[in-house]
Amino acid sequence: MSPSESNGEPTSIEVQDSIPVIDYSLLTSGIPNERSKVVQDIGKACEDWGCFMLVNHGIPETLIQEMMGISDEFFNMTKEEKLEFEAHGVFDPIRCTSGLNLVNQNKDTLWRECLRLIVHPDFNCPLKPPGLSELAFDYVKRTRAIALELVKGVSESLGFEASYMNHELNLDASFQLLAINYYPSILEFDASRGLIQHTDHGLLTLLYENGVPGLEVLHNGKWVGIGSIPNAFFIISADHLEIFSNGKYKGKFHRTVMKDERKRITLVNTNGPSLDTIVGPSSRLVDGENRPPRYLPMKYSEYLECQTRLVTAGKHPFDEIRIHI
Ligand code: OGA
Ligand code: NI
Repeated sequence: MSPSESNGEPTSIEVQDSIPVIDYSLLTSGIPNERSKVVQDIGKACEDWGCFMLVNHGIPETLIQEMMGISDEFFNMTKEEKLEFEAHGVFDPIRCTSGLNLVNQNKDTLWRECLRLIVHPDFNCPLKPPGLSELAFDYVKRTRAIALELVKGVSESLGFEASYMNHELNLDASFQLLAINYYPSILEFDASRGLIQHTDHGLLTLLYENGVPGLEVLHNGKWVGIGSIPNAFFIISADHLEIFSNGKYKGKFHRTVMKDERKRITLVNTNGPSLDTIVGPSSRLVDGENRPPRYLPMKYSEYLECQTRLVTAGKHPFDEIRIHI
């Protein structure tokens, strides 16, 4: 497919091959040369793309497949059973949203269901289907460990010691979410399915999909289809990496456009600072004159509220915290 622009809207192209690939095992191998090379690659991926695939992550395929299977079971429960977890607010420990989210401009509607759990510092999960809670606990413990290890690499890539970001952002009490997204099969539910464009809060998002493609990232003004992501995590750099790095790494815009008839299930982990951390540009990256701060500091919990309020109004939180220089 050749990229073309019609009426100013970015169009989708498939360039999956050029998305950076990071080998997680090299980060943890304990071999200094390998580590410094991969740290450099992570920095470059964050700067050039704001996303990358992560292979050799070490999470057993069976655990992921079991998570996918039991997530499918959850969404196949009756509407009444799911209503028990109906969404109220951003800090609901367990929140199930089902239905339409409006695309602001042309009022097209997109369908997905989502089960969103706060899984750290406290772990929350529905008790049904039986087994979900145990599997999810194991899964998020492992994805959190990967996220923390990647943040160490990111910290080094910014020229800091590995533990600097962990310490500054209190990642021992990291606010971690697990969102399980369910885009039904077109045969089951004949409607436009997808997720509107957005960036994620937090530092790094870890996304695993069930082999049915749909994800697109906005890259150099064009929507790039990611294709299917075999046995790898898709890592997305998020808003608080942009804020902390004072704009060196950007929160990546992404969306989901479903062209495939099959159902798509994704396991999405956001990994942020602790809720009470006030996040602004790192003091090591700003100095009054040459490198002024580009974002206003804000407590992470307030950012989450602000995001919900602004996104509902068709805006982005950066509309309020970006400093125009
Ligand atoms: C998200 C997200 C994409 C997908 O949950 O933040 O971007 O394809 N999901 O589910
Ligand atoms: Ni997202």
